[in-house]
Amino acid sequence: MNDDPVRSVLWMARGAWITMELRAACELGVFDALDDPLTVDALAEVTHSDPPTLARLVRSLVDLGLLTVGDHAAYELTVLGATLREDHPSRLRDLVLMQATLPNLAAWGALDAAVRTGSGVFEQVNGMPSWERLARDPEAQRRFNAAMARRAGAQVTAVLAATDLSDALTLLDVGGGRGAMLAGLLEALPSLKGVVADQPGVAAEAEAALAEAGLGDRASAVPCDFFTSVPEGGDVYTIANVLHDWDDAEAVAILRNVRAAMSHDARLLVVEHVLDAPGRSFEELRDIHLVDLHMLVLFGARERTQAEYDGLLTASGFTASRLADPVSEWNVLEARPVG
Ligand SMILES: C[S@@+](CC[C@H](N)C(=O)[O-])C[C@H]1O[C@@H](n2cnc3c(N)ncnc32)[C@H](O)[C@@H]1O
Repeated sequence: MNDDPVRSVLWMARGAWITMELRAACELGVFDALDDPLTVDALAEVTHSDPPTLARLVRSLVDLGLLTVGDHAAYELTVLGATLREDHPSRLRDLVLMQATLPNLAAWGALDAAVRTGSGVFEQVNGMPSWERLARDPEAQRRFNAAMARRAGAQVTAVLAATDLSDALTLLDVGGGRGAMLAGLLEALPSLKGVVADQPGVAAEAEAALAEAGLGDRASAVPCDFFTSVPEGGDVYTIANVLHDWDDAEAVAILRNVRAAMSHDARLLVVEHVLDAPGRSFEELRDIHLVDLHMLVLFGARERTQAEYDGLLTASGFTASRLADPVSEWNVLEARPVG
């Protein structure tokens, strides 16, 4: 924070520009080109850019702490800049490119309308719901799935710490995206089998990804509309990072279908960012509060407290949840069918 309040708030007001600057640098391949330090002219050649104009972008990336300039006017990646490389394990680049899509930004442009009405604005602004736009645009869908999958490692850590899955036979991951969390769980638990249930295009990507990970004999993906039905047959059901995409009525509709698919002795693990989970850092909460607004503009949805999740669960035929001690940014709520 700067001592001058106007300058501090001006910096916040520039946030959208910075998002787009990161997007441009990722799209140009600036971070990926810098295996070794390069002059602007050399970087311009690799990124097919106009050298004097690239120099202006690079100057600002230096100001942001993403690049640094060393000997002979050669630019180098900093630790921060390295996180935006295609090969960085955080896969942050996928998230930047997904978040910086124009339909998402246009929806944020109507945040004030969303706050007035309490409803999502994506469909009004872009002419179709967000899920439909993704289904119609394979590249956007692939990017979205990749951006989701980047956090699978932390989800796996949270699930394994939350509950003993050593006796589990078949885990069914509802809305499991391209199967990254399932793959991580199967790698940790060699006797477990698993199924991803997701929309048809996503399930196809999951099937291919699971086969490519060498898990084709223990894992599969099935097309599903969780508002119609959810596949039976799991003794453990997971639903990760899904309920926050939906308003309460929709979330209850999904959970009722999950409940209908489950036997009495199966268990449900809800993996989400629970707002009032203990031990959250200021930075984590700040991020969750922003994602909450993202859920509002995209879907009219929200992040929730444990009590709010319990309201959904108990309205859908489940017990109230047991919240596992947090070990990562992800929280796991375990619930059992009632009756
Ligand atoms: C936010 S993503 C979470 C993906 C994954 N579970 C994760 O944690 O990375 C929500 C998932 O719900 C899926 N989904 C949305 N609508 C669906 C529907 N009607 N039926 C089944 N899956 C749906 C999406 O395709 C997407 O994979």
